[in-house]
Amino acid sequence: MTDIPVISVDGPGGAGKGTLCVALARHLGWHLLDSGALYRLVALAAEERGVPFDDRDALAEVARHLDVSFELRSDADLTEVFLDGRRVDEALRSDAAGQGASQVAAIPEVRAALVERQRAFRRAPGLVADGRDMGTVIFPDAALKVFLTASTEERARRRYKQLKDKGLDASLRDLLTSMASRDERDAKRAVAPLRPADDAIVIDSTEVDAEGVLARVLSEARARGLV
Ligand code: C5P
Repeated sequence: MTDIPVISVDGPGGAGKGTLCVALARHLGWHLLDSGALYRLVALAAEERGVPFDDRDALAEVARHLDVSFELRSDADLTEVFLDGRRVDEALRSDAAGQGASQVAAIPEVRAALVERQRAFRRAPGLVADGRDMGTVIFPDAALKVFLTASTEERARRRYKQLKDKGLDASLRDLLTSMASRDERDAKRAVAPLRPADDAIVIDSTEVDAEGVLARVLSEARARGLV
């Protein structure tokens, strides 16, 4: 165990975790772990290498040897992601990559292969960890645990806008269906299912904007002496 503080932010896709975590990391000057990107990268690398999604051992091998680096751009709310030295953040953000990620993320061997890699992101002065099991499994001793959620319709609408803003093709109805199936798979899987930690504060962002959510989390962080 270490004294380096962690703020964990878990919750379903499209609830605003990414925006909140980037803003928090910037505000506090802490490191950022986008754990979803790791699962997306495993799916992407497996697809590129022709590894079938039912070959658990081969997928775990892909996860163990992932050659990946992240760079948080200082001039934009954007993280550049490199796989084997190639920039892949565009491919990573697609809905197909999210679906692939949720399939490989249900495999215990893949999750186990990524545990230490995720914990290695914990470096001084602190870490903001974005995911599904940050507060329950990866950093159970996090100083502040947030579970951020929003209605399925609102989350699909936000994802739609995100994709459109990036010039990507999207259909709101397809996103709603895809989001509901991903939620169900993430919540029902046997290992590390999506659920709030017992000591998490639950924030519903359906009717609160990004600034409001950030202000609430910062006030909780202040109350715990983290800021
Ligand atoms: O957060 P993001 O949409 O990038 O996550 C993609 C998928 O990766 C999720 O649907 C989930 O299945 C999986 N994931 C996970 N555990 C995490 C982060 C993501 O299982 N800590």
